[in-house]
Amino acid sequence: MIIAIDGPAASGKGTIAKLVAGHFQVPVLDTGLLYRAVARDTAARGRPLDDAATAEAAARVLDPGTLDDPALRGAKAGEGASIVARIPGVRAALLEFQRAFARQPGGAVLDGRDIGTVVCPDADVKIFVTASAEVRARRRFLELQGRGEEVSYEVVLKDIRDRDERDSSRADAPMKAAADAVLLDTSELGIEEAFAAALRVVEERAAG
Ligand code: DC
Repeated sequence: MIIAIDGPAASGKGTIAKLVAGHFQVPVLDTGLLYRAVARDTAARGRPLDDAATAEAAARVLDPGTLDDPALRGAKAGEGASIVARIPGVRAALLEFQRAFARQPGGAVLDGRDIGTVVCPDADVKIFVTASAEVRARRRFLELQGRGEEVSYEVVLKDIRDRDERDSSRADAPMKAAADAVLLDTSELGIEEAFAAALRVVEERAAG
């Protein structure tokens, strides 16, 4: 069973994806990490992040073994990812890796922005996780603060809004819910409740 979980930054999709994957004991891929790593590797080549040829080259030789780099989790990496993610050649270079991951015999969970629409349009279950920008900014603010990053709530909120705008307005594979995705608004939900709601969606779809 392929489970696609999409949604904007800090919606809770990553945590939900990990919990769902753990529940069904299938592998999970946080596809945002791929774009974050491409931004890291483009910067390491000394080029600006919107240099399409360099970013594309970095995407083509991306080593998935480097995705557990803790630096990829920071706010700056997320911003950078959103910039390289606009480049069609980068998206194309990452597509086959994501599809191969999804095709694993026992199934898989993938989370991102375009899993249900582009990467796995035939996924068995599609969930689009949302929450208000303010709620997401508060969550991201607390998370970054907990990791010792010096940030202000206002700056985080602005970053979230900018990123939503960039991710949903790009021409190639913009962030949007697939027509057959189930919307899950986590604004008023704790993580346990959000996980339970996601599980219900999966079980309903699996039942048929
Ligand atoms: O989920 P995240 O915050 O780690 O994603 C970082 C950026 O990567 C996001 O702003 C847009 C891009 N991204 C994408 O374009 N497509 C995906 N499937 C996942 C992430």
